[in-house]
Amino acid sequence: MVGRSQADRNQLPLLLLRLLCLLPTGLPVRSVDSNRSTDNITVRQGDTAILRCFVEDKSSKVAWLNRSGIIFAGQDKWSLDPRVELEKRSSLEYSLRIQKVDTYDDGPYTCSVQTQHHTKTSQVYLTVQVPPKISNISSDVTVNEGSNVTLVCIANGRPEPMITWRHLTPTAREFEWGEEYLEIQGITREQSGKYECKATNEIAAADMKQVRVTVNYPPIITESKSNEATTGKQAYLRCEASAVPSPDFEWYKDDTRTHRINSAQGLEIKNIGSRSMLMVANVTEEHYGNYTCVATNKLGVTNTSLYLYKRVSPTISIRASERGSNAHFKQKGPGTVIVDNGTNGLAAPLWLMAASLFCLLCKC
Ligand SMILES: *[C@@H]1O[C@H](CO)[C@@H](O)[C@H](O)[C@H]1NC(C)=O
Ligand SMILES: *[C@@H]1O[C@H](CO)[C@@H](O)[C@H](O)[C@H]1NC(C)=O
Ligand SMILES: *[C@@H]1O[C@H](CO)[C@@H](O)[C@H](O)[C@H]1NC(C)=O
Ligand SMILES: *[C@@H]1O[C@H](CO)[C@@H](O)[C@H](O)[C@H]1NC(C)=O
Ligand SMILES: *[C@@H]1O[C@H](CO)[C@@H](O)[C@H](O)[C@H]1NC(C)=O
Ligand SMILES: *[C@@H]1O[C@H](CO)[C@@H](O)[C@H](O)[C@H]1NC(C)=O
Ligand SMILES: *[C@@H]1O[C@H](CO)[C@@H](O)[C@H](O)[C@H]1NC(C)=O
Ligand SMILES: *[C@@H]1O[C@H](CO)[C@@H](O)[C@H](O)[C@H]1NC(C)=O
Ligand SMILES: *[C@@H]1O[C@H](CO)[C@@H](O)[C@H](O)[C@H]1NC(C)=O
Repeated sequence: MVGRSQADRNQLPLLLLRLLCLLPTGLPVRSVDSNRSTDNITVRQGDTAILRCFVEDKSSKVAWLNRSGIIFAGQDKWSLDPRVELEKRSSLEYSLRIQKVDTYDDGPYTCSVQTQHHTKTSQVYLTVQVPPKISNISSDVTVNEGSNVTLVCIANGRPEPMITWRHLTPTAREFEWGEEYLEIQGITREQSGKYECKATNEIAAADMKQVRVTVNYPPIITESKSNEATTGKQAYLRCEASAVPSPDFEWYKDDTRTHRINSAQGLEIKNIGSRSMLMVANVTEEHYGNYTCVATNKLGVTNTSLYLYKRVSPTISIRASERGSNAHFKQKGPGTVIVDNGTNGLAAPLWLMAASLFCLLCKC
């Protein structure tokens, strides 16, 4: 648009004026050009633009021209656009007012003033500014780990908005890319989360939109815990797996596929998100042994072995070594909990810990 030469730009209005006999045909273009003053006005989309023009003499012939044609010739309005009016606060003013300016109003405007002796034109370049606005952004996506992902963010505005992408990570570390297209090759599970597109230009506040990327991956066992139990008491085994989508859990006894455990055999399986608990309400001899926790989602399956040990002596508590591992499970009943205070208080916990450690080592 701007690439056109100034001579070109003037060609059409001048031709029109000549056709209208507002300009003498012989007038050299050069003398017009040399008197032109170019002014720039910048207006935000939707605002009112006033393009000033003044005459020296009331008898002058005046006209306002657009790139594409005559807007006003004297007091006669040629343009059909209702947003366009003359502004005459004095008899010598011949300004043009454009309401609700839009992007198509952008461009050069010419005020032509012709007296008996000479013609003077003044050109005004109207620049319409538009705040940044994101018009299209990728919708939320779910992909498998290792896939190539392309996110797109399209924004409009004048001047052309700058696009930046960032990954809104939980650790608040932010990565920025300055492209409409964000390509992630071989996406990893750490790269899942929200991505924010930001469109900025100097006109107004940035426009921002977010897209969520979910990365699926197969289960991995993050925690599994063997445990000790006393016959006639409660016991539990715990297994934790990380996976997207969330894993399904199954429990097996002695690693045999046929011994799939369900909640009927005095056992209860409690699944909470990424964690599975196998609860035994009343431990009997056959509950001791090797268990397998199997975590499955649509991308894969994994398992781990846990052991339910028989507590060697009911008078030995492993409470000290167990403390903090599970807050929900507490042993009840006499004989199992030993509380020491007084003189034996210092020696007893050490002795208990040594005994527990010894027991654990024996079974491995
Ligand atoms: C510019 O216009 C003035 C009158 O406003 C005139 O006297 C002058 O000769 C013009 N300049 C040129 C270079 O034509
Ligand atoms: C007016 O704006 C036009 C287009 O943006 C630019 O080419 C020209 O240099 C500007 N002129 C002035 C005097 O700023
Ligand atoms: C100027 O011309 C364009 C076409 O080039 C037109 O769309 C626009 O409405 C015109 N502006 C005014 C203020 O008449
Ligand atoms: C948004 O972009 C996508 C991908 O480029 C395209 O398929 C879709 O038609 C676009 N939507 C709009 C409203 O432009
Ligand atoms: C991802 O892109 C790379 C490089 O363009 C290509 O070599 C690879 O095959 C693509 N992977 C997938 C899963 O499309
Ligand atoms: C556990 O089972 C045994 C044998 O069946 C029974 O005697 C005992 O009362 C049960 N204990 C509890 C707490 O249910
Ligand atoms: C556990 O995994 C191993 C090897 O991955 C497999 O051989 C075994 O059958 C699995 N056990 C169960 C109960 O799924
Ligand atoms: C439990 O079973 C698994 C699978 O058969 C085996 O690898 C593991 O050694 C067993 N653990 C114990 C303590 O026997
Ligand atoms: C500590 O032991 C004494 C008896 O030896 C008992 O009277 C006291 O209540 C015990 N304190 C606690 C906190 O159990």
